[in-house]
Amino acid sequence: MGTVIDAATKDNDGSALASKKVTIIFVLGGPGSGKGTQCANIVQHYGYTHLSAGDLLRAERDSGSENGTMIDNMIAEGKIVPSEVTIKLLERAILETDNDKFLIDGFPRNEENRAAFESVTGIEPEFVLFFDCSEEEMTRRLLSRNQGRTDDNIETIKKRFKVYMESSLPVIEYYNSKGKVRRPIIYICP
Ligand code: C5P
Ligand code: MG
Repeated sequence: MGTVIDAATKDNDGSALASKKVTIIFVLGGPGSGKGTQCANIVQHYGYTHLSAGDLLRAERDSGSENGTMIDNMIAEGKIVPSEVTIKLLERAILETDNDKFLIDGFPRNEENRAAFESVTGIEPEFVLFFDCSEEEMTRRLLSRNQGRTDDNIETIKKRFKVYMESSLPVIEYYNSKGKVRRPIIYICP
């Protein structure tokens, strides 16, 4: 079997998740590669709850939290918010949800995200779904989706691609070296 870890057995006294047994799949890929779109399809068939790290950060920003301005600035620059903030949001969402199977999309985004989540929660992903998509297609998707996001403009998109190449791809490579990466084949019906 894969890695359903009983977090209570790990050295993670500080984690609010310590008493909840969960299965987690990380969903990774570049900006605009279709992570959110495909997660919405997957939850309809497999009983997972979808959590998007980006959506949680945007909701936290809009809630008037003390971290709101910092999160807003980081998103507008395509930079990665400190792990502490994002992990707290993920932990809270997992605990608030009456399910034990989660698709976490857009996290971990860098080595700091990955290592901090593992050491704070004691949880390793069951596996990682990786959506590999060309920059050309991702740009086309980002510029046509009209979600009113401050970061879907060509200047910020370039910064997000740079962060993806420099910081996120190494995380995917890390999981690949552990045999945990799955590359789904997507059929697009005409
Ligand atoms: O995944 P999504 O494209 O919605 O993320 C939007 C932005 O949210 C990222 O460019 C980044 O600024 C922030 N983010 C983050 N850490 C994550 C996920 C997203 O800082 N793990
Ligand atoms: Mg998304």
